Amino acid sequence: PIFSIMEDLRAKFEANKQGHLFTFYDKLSESEKSTLLEDLSSIDVAALPTMLANSLELEKAGGGDFQPLKSLGSVINTDKATVDAWYKKGLEAIGSGKVAVILMAGGQGTRLGSSNPKGMYDIGMPSHSSLFRMQAERLRRLQVIAAAAAGAPSVTIPWYIMTSPMTYHPTKAYFEAESFFGLSPAQVTFFNQGTLPAMSEDGAIFLETPSSVVRAPDGNGGIYKALEVEGVLADMAKRGISSIHTYCVDNALVKLGDPTFVGYCLEQGADCGSKVIPKAYPQEAVGCCCLKNGAVSVVEYSELPKEKTELRGDSGELLFSAANIANHYYSLSFLQRMATEFPAHVAFHIARKKIAHIDLQSEKGEKVTPTAPNGIKLEGFIFDVFPLAEKMAVLEAPRAAEFAPVKNAPGSPTDSPDTARAMLSAEYEAWIIQAGGMLTGEGLVEISPLLSYSGEGLEALVAGKTFTRPLHLKKEEEAA
Ligand code: UTP
Repeated sequence: PIFSIMEDLRAKFEANKQGHLFTFYDKLSESEKSTLLEDLSSIDVAALPTMLANSLELEKAGGGDFQPLKSLGSVINTDKATVDAWYKKGLEAIGSGKVAVILMAGGQGTRLGSSNPKGMYDIGMPSHSSLFRMQAERLRRLQVIAAAAAGAPSVTIPWYIMTSPMTYHPTKAYFEAESFFGLSPAQVTFFNQGTLPAMSEDGAIFLETPSSVVRAPDGNGGIYKALEVEGVLADMAKRGISSIHTYCVDNALVKLGDPTFVGYCLEQGADCGSKVIPKAYPQEAVGCCCLKNGAVSVVEYSELPKEKTELRGDSGELLFSAANIANHYYSLSFLQRMATEFPAHVAFHIARKKIAHIDLQSEKGEKVTPTAPNGIKLEGFIFDVFPLAEKMAVLEAPRAAEFAPVKNAPGSPTDSPDTARAMLSAEYEAWIIQAGGMLTGEGLVEISPLLSYSGEGLEALVAGKTFTRPLHLKKEEEAA
């Protein structure tokens, strides 16, 4: 039967101009032959040409009618009572077990340059907590606050962690080795996003070895299909989840499950939401949330005309200022709809990369390592679903409390572990001052997430006291 499977596949691949993937087939061992056939069977080769054509068209198209958002909620410019009411509403939803959190951790983190998944990275705070640990502990604290507000003995927030085949095993092993950072293993679910083959500019898939193709994760937009395929949507429905918060692994300040944001989206009756931060300066290289051809969309900085980025309103505020930080809200029914609508309606973006591959002309299948971009990876972008939402809510929140990205290698002037460390320390310091404490001396300030999720509950501990930096404020049991 292997012969007929091979013949069928070969015919299909040849018909789609991918027959070269069989170049070394006759020289492979029996087990390598099955490996290749299995690898190729998982590729929808007939769909690739249309996918690639759509992506190239998307790349060429650019432009559009860009307008500022018409309605934007703001934590910055809204009175405290209203913001508190959003917080309360969100906390109630969490307390009644209806909110889940999804972490996107499938990226390869090439810029940071660590061989481990990015979430395992220690940005150098006094605790030496990894990004995963910070997030897990914030989740634990949020469960405590929500339970107290609900008068319940405990509350569980399911945490779904999206990995790619490149990050799945090390991520899972790390959580196990760290005893899930004190969370219940049953509340943590790992699931894989898909991959897509990498190809040359004209669409010929590359070989990684003579018996496998080069693959890359299908982008953070891969989340929509993966949630369905991996059974996450069904699991959420079973657990009674109706609201979902998603975020990126590499934001050291992320408030996962943020009650204020969840509450705001619930109040708006939104099926999809985005928490944005004001741009640092007009031409900051971030995606901007605005209206594109009438629909809420995220437009890449390269796509937005320079004169638009400079536009200001009556009080001098930038009109195109809503920086998207991949911090999103979804209703479960929206995600259920996107499982089919995203692949059907949304084109993948083209990333031109240096892609090492097997030289088809070489006798034994030697590897070529290019020095300049030689091919294409296709990536779905998570925010490309916004125009498909029935009611999109956008909430602006202060950058200093929300966003400390870890993208670049240590020592880089922006978005590095160093800049994230400084921002985290500054935010913790602000919490102490706000709670009536004072600081002296030099160095970093850290507050354990188990003590405070977003600055709450610190008065009894710090009011009227002066602390010396470096400072690591933690719960008594953590000190042991
Ligand atoms: P980035 O686009 O910044 O990519 O991901 P990256 O992989 O972390 O880093 P570089 O570009 O290789 O240096 C933003 C977020 O989306 C997730 C990442 O894990 C990160 O949380 N992501 C990205 C995925 O989950 N899957 C992907 O395929 C790509």
